[in-house]
Amino acid sequence: MNILLIGSGGREHALAWKIKQSPRCSTLYIAPGNAGTALIGENVPLAAEDFKALGQFCLDKKITLVVVGPEAPLVQGIRDYFEGTTALAHILLVGPGKSGAMLEGSKDFSKQFMLRHQVPTAKARTFQSHESAQALAYLDHCTPPIVLKADGLAAGKGVIISPTIAEAKQAIHAMLVDKKFGEASSKVLVEEFLNGIELSVFVLTDGENYVVLPEAKDYKRIGDGDTGPNTGGMGAVSPVIFAEEEFMKKVEAQVIVPTINGLKKDGIPYKGFIFIGLMNIKGEPFVIEYNARMGDPETEAVMTRIDSDLVELLEACAKGELHNQKIQINPHYAVTLIMASGGYPDIFEKGHAISGLDAAGPALVFHAGTSRKDNTIVTAGGRVLAITGNAATLDGAARQAYETAAKISWKDAYYRQDISQDLAQLEKRGGR
Ligand code: AMP
Ligand code: GLY
Repeated sequence: MNILLIGSGGREHALAWKIKQSPRCSTLYIAPGNAGTALIGENVPLAAEDFKALGQFCLDKKITLVVVGPEAPLVQGIRDYFEGTTALAHILLVGPGKSGAMLEGSKDFSKQFMLRHQVPTAKARTFQSHESAQALAYLDHCTPPIVLKADGLAAGKGVIISPTIAEAKQAIHAMLVDKKFGEASSKVLVEEFLNGIELSVFVLTDGENYVVLPEAKDYKRIGDGDTGPNTGGMGAVSPVIFAEEEFMKKVEAQVIVPTINGLKKDGIPYKGFIFIGLMNIKGEPFVIEYNARMGDPETEAVMTRIDSDLVELLEACAKGELHNQKIQINPHYAVTLIMASGGYPDIFEKGHAISGLDAAGPALVFHAGTSRKDNTIVTAGGRVLAITGNAATLDGAARQAYETAAKISWKDAYYRQDISQDLAQLEKRGGR
């Protein structure tokens, strides 16, 4: 079958890599893709949010399956557009409709959803822009650190953790009154701080049944030792040592099953990925957030641990036939290291030539922000490459990733030196 994958990041390069391994995939198109996806399939210069052009492209190229990578087209209703357009309604699509994507698109909606369906999560209260006085008064009774969350999509930047009440007051004023995140912060959640270890769990569901993908740990801060500003993610590791069987059983019973049943009860059809951001607090799972898509860079680690044919899984998901599927996961360790542009997540330069790509290995090199300029691959984003080592041990996988990264360079390239080290130390201490 011909497949169209939508998106342009490292997540999409990793999905493309895995999709292309399937004998069920004839031609793979990626819209708009990057210089890495162009090595695997055919890039199409269409924006992820240009539904009309994407729909026409699907008809022209006889696309059977559309896989949506990023959240923006989901939240904007790509599924609703396809289902509501007679000529496109037969096309299989992986990704929820607008109503399901609200799990990610509105933090207030997802919080109410969790409370309604008894999914363990942090206590929170929501304030709207005309309630800033009440919000300030409420903060006086909170115990710091205080978590403030813009309700809407804010490119991964909408969460502020304030160490003091005074700073939380300034921050909430900036969000509600000064509209620091535009419309996204016209509602703000004031949330209890959860103190634990974070991990990401991924589920592929057709709304009735589900498969659980390998879990991963993301490294969100820019600096070693989890310091400095938040980023989209500077690395990922899978499996996660503290996600033992007992913990994952709790995640399934207390989080995954109530989430899928909750969607059904609320009448929300859902065919796609659910990414569950979790805090492990003394062995108990609490949900930090849902996303309606796979994580980036987690996907670049997770895909290398799936032995099953991904296209079979995606097709079954889109058809509502996941009950026929089992997922085969390999026991290898995957360590993904993000090579970023110097200055990211603030101001950075683009357009620098990347050298060493041809000789790079043995780790896999997924492209995130790259493009081709004449005959050279150049940097085109903050996160540029995602390098994934894969080995029987955590150390081995990390070594592979770092050895490969050392062969690649461009002006001001930056990466963290400590991806996976915290888990290696935990492993040495016996897992806890
Ligand atoms: P989000 O944009 O929802 O992914 O949040 C960004 C990051 O903020 C999360 O990955 C957590 O590290 C942190 N965070 C969010 N909510 C909480 C919370 N209630 N307690 C502690 N940390 C949190
Ligand atoms: N790595 C976190 C995310 O994809 O949102």
